[in-house]
Amino acid sequence: MMGNTFGKLFRITTCGESYSGCFRKKPGIPKELYGGLLVIVDGVPAGIKITAEMVQAELDKRKPGQTPLDSPRLEKDICYIFSGVMENDLTTGAPVGIVIPNNDIEDIHVGQYRDYKDSIRPGHAEYCYFKKYGEFTDWVGAGRASGRETASRVAGGAVAKQVLDQIGIDVIGFITESHGIKAKPVTYEEAKKNYRANELNCPDLEAAPKMIEDILKVKDSGDTCGGVVELIIKGVPAGLGEPVFDRLDATLSHALMSIGAIKGIEFGAGFEVARMAGSQCNDESYVDPETGRVAFYTNNAGGVLGGISNGSEIRIRLAVKPTPTVSVPQKAVDVEKMEDGILEPITRRDATLLSRIYPVCEAMARVAILDALMAANAYRSVTNIDPKWDKI
Ligand SMILES: Cc1cc2nc3c(=O)[nH]c(=O)nc-3n(C[C@H](O)[C@H](O)[C@H](O)COP(=O)(O)O)c2cc1C
Repeated sequence: MMGNTFGKLFRITTCGESYSGCFRKKPGIPKELYGGLLVIVDGVPAGIKITAEMVQAELDKRKPGQTPLDSPRLEKDICYIFSGVMENDLTTGAPVGIVIPNNDIEDIHVGQYRDYKDSIRPGHAEYCYFKKYGEFTDWVGAGRASGRETASRVAGGAVAKQVLDQIGIDVIGFITESHGIKAKPVTYEEAKKNYRANELNCPDLEAAPKMIEDILKVKDSGDTCGGVVELIIKGVPAGLGEPVFDRLDATLSHALMSIGAIKGIEFGAGFEVARMAGSQCNDESYVDPETGRVAFYTNNAGGVLGGISNGSEIRIRLAVKPTPTVSVPQKAVDVEKMEDGILEPITRRDATLLSRIYPVCEAMARVAILDALMAANAYRSVTNIDPKWDKI
């Protein structure tokens, strides 16, 4: 299977699934080594402090079973640093390996997945995985198509975070819409102030209880719903992004659209630009009296122009679809019998993915931004560009 590495200079490679470890339960193998998730983070600068607790803090945002909005699965998501870090928790420059063993691989769950392993579960990846991997498809808990896979991304993103923190680049993700209920727009400072102030991590404290009440109603009805995650990337210097194929908006989109259940992405004014006049859409510039440098009055561009960061904050919105697993009977073909069928209601499910997906979005944005920063700095270091351009 290809496609499990992201990044060029700062690079994460992940592996692991939900339940494949159930087939390796054997005496003599410690249960932490039956199966789980791994990330290898390459390109980590030497001398960065990384502890398991720092990584754990990010993983704890994503793990299920924390709020009534999540599925009752008991994945503890405990991580262990395996390599690349030495005395005083400092990186050596070698790849940082992080292991997250699966501890919720009970045979009873495997049995449940076996019961409907030939069904084309609506909204899930089975049909396409069968077409690509045939009889070798991992059918226990959706294999690599499971949201479980994203724990390794969060661990990799936690390593990027330690590097970005010392440079002063902050990435925050939060919820701005759930099932049609919209939060009011917030500044970076407002979002930061109310970050994780409620189960949904919606910084609009008036809209959040309405969203949560609505999600719980949807959950009671056996259904699920989606919404919008917004990301702000603050402190990005102008000049990141490699035209033409590795434009910054393109690589961020690649990073973020690779997350399961993300169905749309917008930068700045996003799809609204289609309805604007040019004079309205253009971000006009001025000389900032404080810094003496170019700044922009508005940010319809979302912080990226010509595929290169312009020094404004990068604003991204991501459409998250409703959780595919629902407790509502749905039509599903049985591919073994090649018959139409009905998939019975499934109980363990997240009523919404919003409360768990935003840390994954933060992690992938961090990896993409750090990779772009390293590329831009490497390029600049070998050019003959007049330093006067650093002053505009
Ligand atoms: C963090 C995270 C958790 C997820 N948890 C679930 C889940 O519990 N149940 C489910 O049906 N889908 C879940 N998904 C979504 C599926 O993985 C995804 O919708 C499915 O593989 C089909 O891929 P696509 O929606 O990107 O086309 C989760 C996704 C993420 C990112």
